[in-house]
Amino acid sequence: MHPTTSTLLLLLLAISGLALAAPGTTLPRQAAACPAATTTTTTYEAVDNKGLPDPWKFANGNPVATADDFLCRQAEMSKMLQQFELGDLPPPPDSLTATMSGSSSMSLTIKVGSNTKTISVSITKPPGSNAAGGPAMIGVGGVSIPVPAALGRITFGNDACAAQSNPASHGSGWFFDLHGKAHSAGATLAWAWCVGRIIDGLEKLGPAKTGIDPARLGVSGCSRNGKGAFMVGAFEKRIALTVPQESGSGGAACWRISDSEKDKGQNIQTARQIVRENAWFSPKFTTYVNKTTSLPADHHFLAALVAPRGLLVLENDIDWLGPVSTTACMKAGRSIYEALGVKGNMGFSLVGGHGHCSFPSSDNANLLSFINRFLVGTGTANEVEQTTAKDAALEMSSWVGGWSAQPKITLPAAA
Ligand SMILES: *[C@@H]1O[C@H](CO)[C@@H](O)[C@H](O)[C@H]1NC(C)=O
Repeated sequence: MHPTTSTLLLLLLAISGLALAAPGTTLPRQAAACPAATTTTTTYEAVDNKGLPDPWKFANGNPVATADDFLCRQAEMSKMLQQFELGDLPPPPDSLTATMSGSSSMSLTIKVGSNTKTISVSITKPPGSNAAGGPAMIGVGGVSIPVPAALGRITFGNDACAAQSNPASHGSGWFFDLHGKAHSAGATLAWAWCVGRIIDGLEKLGPAKTGIDPARLGVSGCSRNGKGAFMVGAFEKRIALTVPQESGSGGAACWRISDSEKDKGQNIQTARQIVRENAWFSPKFTTYVNKTTSLPADHHFLAALVAPRGLLVLENDIDWLGPVSTTACMKAGRSIYEALGVKGNMGFSLVGGHGHCSFPSSDNANLLSFINRFLVGTGTANEVEQTTAKDAALEMSSWVGGWSAQPKITLPAAA
């Protein structure tokens, strides 16, 4: 190579290295919201739809063709999920103050109306982080994926925010102490709100105090907490990378597909079962659990809500989690990323033959590539779409065959 060219190349690499190290500059963000002029309605009708709801059509039948349309359709999907299954996501609190006590504990005092709660959050700073702070992974109930030592860690004690003991535990936890015991939110959506307060605290204190750059946060959790991690990523737009692990039904699976698998004799968790097991969903959901074809939103919309941010969905082949349902549902989700021109920002990996929530080492490189791309800001994410579920069982055409033609949408770069 000509010396001048190689010098230039080195210079370019050095410059891009600097740019990548600057917080947030090159990572896909979702700063834009639905323009107020086209804000969606507040309540939606039930539908009668065997296939998965069409992401490319508004509830009123209008097509989703432009970037603004998509941002407004995301707002609609969010409201539909809240209305039918998750309960209402409250606005930010009236006030929040944050202090660090020592180097590994953040204390938050949160006020909603006349209710006040003080909670503490355990933080492990990224080693050697400077004033700009480093990336961190928030673990819903702890982190059970192998996270590089260079990342910080935040343990989100989700049970204390909203309990998950049984259906009757709805209403217990600091979310409900603030919003009232009768609040409609199911535990998984309440967790999304509570994680938002942790991010508020990190933003208020700043990276010099916490060691963490709030623009470089991931979220992960497994099984029930994987359902939670997916909800956190879908409803908290400040999360840069979402990694739900073995979230199964209630997470990466679609309700309709899980019901269809159940009808075929699979031992799979369904909507009907899940509301009897726990308080993960809103009491509102009970009305629809025996007729999931009436839901205007299904869980491929969770992927649509995370888009275009980083999303790596990890699954297992355990029957109860619904391997066919998670694969087909997330294939549908990935087609939404594809329409946005960022298919690679979402990965799906279903590797079987290991214990529930034990991370398979064959996924190490995929996970690392997503963490590097979306949290560290280096390299490219691996193209990840693998599953042991058989193509024939997926019946994709019956799930998405009725959709409008896939548009080509370019989302504006975040501010
Ligand atoms: C759903 O079906 C189950 C069993 O078939 C029944 O016990 C339950 O009451 C039904 N729920 C609703 C809301 O109709």
